[in-house]
Amino acid sequence: MGFISVAVDGPSGAGKSTMAKRLAEALGYVYVDTGAIYRTLGLLARRSGTDPEDAQAVSELLKRADIQLRYEADGLQHMLLSGEDVTAEIRLPEISQYASAVSAQPAVRAFLLDMQRDMAKHFNVIMDGRDIGTVVLPDAQAKIFLTATPEDRASRRCAELEDRGTPQDYETVLAEIVERDRKDSTRAAAPLRRAEDAVLVDTTGKSLDESFAILLDAIRRKLEA
Ligand code: DC
Repeated sequence: MGFISVAVDGPSGAGKSTMAKRLAEALGYVYVDTGAIYRTLGLLARRSGTDPEDAQAVSELLKRADIQLRYEADGLQHMLLSGEDVTAEIRLPEISQYASAVSAQPAVRAFLLDMQRDMAKHFNVIMDGRDIGTVVLPDAQAKIFLTATPEDRASRRCAELEDRGTPQDYETVLAEIVERDRKDSTRAAAPLRRAEDAVLVDTTGKSLDESFAILLDAIRRKLEA
């Protein structure tokens, strides 16, 4: 029996993980946060003093990278780096830039591809990232491209950082979002772009509940089609 895959792609701060988590609950699917996997590798680069833009050094790092996904009883995805639970640490703002830089390396993308596809082979999944609908799961039954203006995304990210107890000022967050968008969309390896068959959802100015309703409806339509 085949499993169902739902792909949710889009730029950082568009609400992908919040939405995908809720959608996974509503649909009874496993939520796979692929950004967390890149972040774990970014954390490893930082801890080991590896320049994340140095392809050779990053390739060497991959040889000793021990990264695992684990689902806890709460249903949430935890990231393990050499057995250590780094789920909270990978959310630190400085890890975002490391994650973005390592994710531009073709060797990194190839290394993580099977790990991501494996999940979709064993479970019904809703997977979020940048290249899920285009590269990782091109045959996904439903694809969403979730976006919002950089300003809207920066405001949301600020609120999220404040909730986590690591507040940052709006201008800094906005500048980082614009820079990460640029890097993620212009890299040669699997750049961020909308799959032709993805439903475009713009959440600018919409509440979480409004966005959720639009997404659930879009996905159900696709799955029933
Ligand atoms: O979604 P996020 O902010 O946690 O992702 C961190 C970085 O990882 C992001 O800048 C781009 C990269 N990434 C990627 O290249 N491909 C994915 N499928 C997911 C994330």
